[in-house]
Amino acid sequence: MNLFKDIEHLIRLAVVIVVLLLVFVVLRVAVVPHSFGEYGHYRGDAIQEVAARPISFAGHAVCEDCHTDVVDQKKLGKHVVVSCEACHGAQARHVEDPGSVKPAKLDTAILCARCHEANSAKPKGFPQVATADHSAGLACDTCHQPHRPKIETAAKNEAGGRK
Ligand code: HEC
Ligand code: HEC
Ligand code: HEC
Ligand code: HEC
Repeated sequence: MNLFKDIEHLIRLAVVIVVLLLVFVVLRVAVVPHSFGEYGHYRGDAIQEVAARPISFAGHAVCEDCHTDVVDQKKLGKHVVVSCEACHGAQARHVEDPGSVKPAKLDTAILCARCHEANSAKPKGFPQVATADHSAGLACDTCHQPHRPKIETAAKNEAGGRK
């Protein structure tokens, strides 16, 4: 009997721990979404939810079917490696209804600088310019054709041999 008397405080502690564990289990069941862990450490339902979102990018292959003139230009220059929607943005809605949904006009001062603004962190071989000095405030497509950006020598002289 003496023995039990001495461990009474331990029993009380054990009761508290069991109650806390129960609270934890009840909260966990209430709070964790039911599909959690179905496939991995995330909600299984998230897959269907993401898949149900409207598609916003169409992919360059579908653009190229209609805009063959742009493809012909593009393949002559280094922008052949840049996909249509990297510049024009997500255009799935334009593809569905080209007659009424037109891609927005691009602001080349923002667009071209996004890739070509000079930065010492970029690889040396990547074409880059300090846009403010280089373009003297003119839109980039005043001199460069966006789909085939290299300026040939004759035009270069016209543009004052800027670099
Ligand atoms: C089913 C054919 C078709 C497909 C596919 C298509 N387009 Fe077009 N696109 C058109 C037509 C038609 C016009 C309007 C031409 C016009 O009015 O001069 C147009 C116009 C444009 C314009 C110019 C808008 C303007 O200001 O006049 C851009 C930029 C463009 N498309 C980009 C794209 C991109 C990027 C894709 C691929 C994601 C794409 N298009 C896919 C038919 C298509
Ligand atoms: C490096 C960026 C860039 C890429 C890549 C690009 N475009 Fe453009 N595109 C432009 C800019 C800038 C304009 C001129 C401004 C505007 O119309 O918004 C333009 C204009 C156009 C136009 C309307 C006038 C014209 O020149 O025919 C069409 C159509 C077009 N692009 C389609 C395409 C398609 C299709 C692709 C992929 C095959 C493509 N573009 C890839 C930047 C780009
Ligand atoms: C999404 C990134 C991207 C955007 C936006 C972009 N470019 Fe480019 N540009 C490239 C890549 C990639 C190359 C090829 C680099 C290489 O081959 O070393 C390139 C090459 C060039 C070159 C060198 C061409 C040559 O033959 O030497 C010029 C000039 C150029 N771009 C101008 C422009 C202009 C003007 C715009 C805006 C209309 C623009 N770029 C928008 C990625 C981009
Ligand atoms: C007044 C005409 C003019 C304007 C405006 C202009 N450029 Fe250029 N750019 C040139 C000429 C000329 C060259 C040298 C020939 C070439 O490489 O195509 C050049 C070269 C380039 C190059 C290649 C640099 C290299 O090291 O190979 C890039 C990138 C470039 N320009 C981007 C731009 C961007 C971005 C804009 C807009 C902010 C712009 N340019 C506006 C005339 C112009």
